[in-house]
Amino acid sequence: MSASKATLEKIVSLCKRRGFVYQSGEIYGGLNGVYDCGPLGALLKHTIKNRWLTHMMSFAEEVVLVDGSLLGSADVWKASGHLDNFSDPMVDCMQCKKRYRADDVDLEKNCPSCGNKQWTAVRQFNLMFKTELGAMSDATSAAYLRPETAQAIFINFKNVMSSFRVKVPFGIAQIGKAFRNEITPKQFLFRMREFEQMEMEFFCKGEDAARFFDLWVARRKQFFLGLGINPERIRLRPHASDELAHYSKACIDVEYEFPFGFKELEGIANRADFDLSQHSKHSGKDLGVFDEATKSSYMPHVVECSVGVDRLFLTLLFDAYDEDEVDGEVRTVLRFHPAVAPYTAAIMPLSNKLTEKAEKIFLDLKAKGYRVQFDDGGSIGKRYRRQDEIGTPVCLTYDFETETDGMVTARNRDTMKQERVAIGDIQGYLDRLMISK
Ligand code: GAP
Repeated sequence: MSASKATLEKIVSLCKRRGFVYQSGEIYGGLNGVYDCGPLGALLKHTIKNRWLTHMMSFAEEVVLVDGSLLGSADVWKASGHLDNFSDPMVDCMQCKKRYRADDVDLEKNCPSCGNKQWTAVRQFNLMFKTELGAMSDATSAAYLRPETAQAIFINFKNVMSSFRVKVPFGIAQIGKAFRNEITPKQFLFRMREFEQMEMEFFCKGEDAARFFDLWVARRKQFFLGLGINPERIRLRPHASDELAHYSKACIDVEYEFPFGFKELEGIANRADFDLSQHSKHSGKDLGVFDEATKSSYMPHVVECSVGVDRLFLTLLFDAYDEDEVDGEVRTVLRFHPAVAPYTAAIMPLSNKLTEKAEKIFLDLKAKGYRVQFDDGGSIGKRYRRQDEIGTPVCLTYDFETETDGMVTARNRDTMKQERVAIGDIQGYLDRLMISK
C-alpha cells in the first residue's frame, strides 16, 4: 500500500479553504477544541449520520431511535460513574503555567513549552461541563452537559419498552452532541471539546451477549468498509484484560491508521448488566425485564457500539486525500466513495452561451434529489481541479456538441477519463456510480 500523502496540516488547510470545517468563533480569536461545519462539512456529516442510521436499522434485530436531552442531573452521572471517575490526570508547569494531560508529557523531563522542570503534583480533572439550572444556585440546581449520549438510552430503557412494542433482544440508537472538557484538545477533529456521537446500545439476555458482541463487531467493520475506507488502514484491536473496565466482559476498538498512528475510531463493548443495574440501584426503579417463558425477571446485558461523527469525518478525509501530478502540477483530490462525496456531480456549461441549457439539467437533477453543484466559474481545467479537491466524483460538461448529439461529457475524478453520456441517461449514470466500487 502506498503511504498516505495526507498530513494534519494539509487536511486542516483544505477544510478551511473549501468550506468543510472552520474554527468556531474564529473572528474572535477562536475557541480551542470547538469547530463549526461549513457547507461541504455539513453535507458530509449529514451523509455519515444517514449511513449510520440506515446501517443500524437494516438488520433482523430491531433497533429503535431516541433523541435524549443534552443536560443531565447529578443523579444520572453519579449512577453512571462519570461524577466520580470521568477524569484525566492533569499537571501544570509552574514556570510558564502551561497545563498538560499528565500522560501526554514525561514528568522526568523539562516542560516542552518553556524548557523548565518544575511540575505541580498530578491531580485528577473531571471532564464534565457543569452548569446550574434556574436562578437559584444550590445542591439541587447542578446539571451537567452529557459527556456521552449512552446514558440517555439507559435511563429511557423502561420508557421505550413500555411505550413501544419492542422485545429483548433489541437495540436503542442515538445520534447527538457530547461535551468533554478535554485538558488538551488535539489533532483537529480527533479530540474535541464539543463533538457528536453515534451510539447504539443493544439489550439482550446475558447468555446471548458474547454472540451479539461478535455479530456487532463484524457488522461494524463492514459498515466502515462500505464507506469506501481502505481496508488496509482499518484494524480491530481487542482490549487487554487490564484495559477493561471492571464490569466489562470484552471490548474491541475499531482503529484507523491516521498519520499519527493507529487510533480508536469506534469502541465496541460487552458491558454486561452494569448500566441498567446501576440506574436501578440509584433511581430505585427496577429496570429488569420479565421473561414470560421462565416467569422470572432478569437484568438485560448490553453490547455497545460507539463512534464519533467528527472522528469518522476526519477518517474519511484522511482516507480520501490524495495528490497526483497533472500537466506538471500537483493535483489535490479527495477520492471519496461516490455515495459519500458531498456532491455527486458538478454540471458545467462549456461557455456562457450554454449556461441556460446546462442549468436546466442541473435544476432537473436537483429537483429529483441528486446532490449536484452548478459550476460555471473559470476555465474547465480550473473547475475540474476545484471539484477534484472537494471530491466530486464526476463533472458533466454541456458543450457545443451537446446541441447536436444530446450528450454531455462525463469526466471521472479518479481516472480523469472522459466519456459521452446521453442527457436522458444521466440519472442512471449517477445511480450506477453511487453503487460502484
Ligand atoms: N459510551 C462510550 C463512550 O463514550 P468513548 O470511547 O469515550 O466511549 C466513543 O467514546 C467514541 O466517541 C470514540 O471512539 C470517538 O470516536 C468519539 N470521541 C470520544 N471522545 C471524543 C472527543 N473528545 N472528540 C471527538 N470524538 C470523540
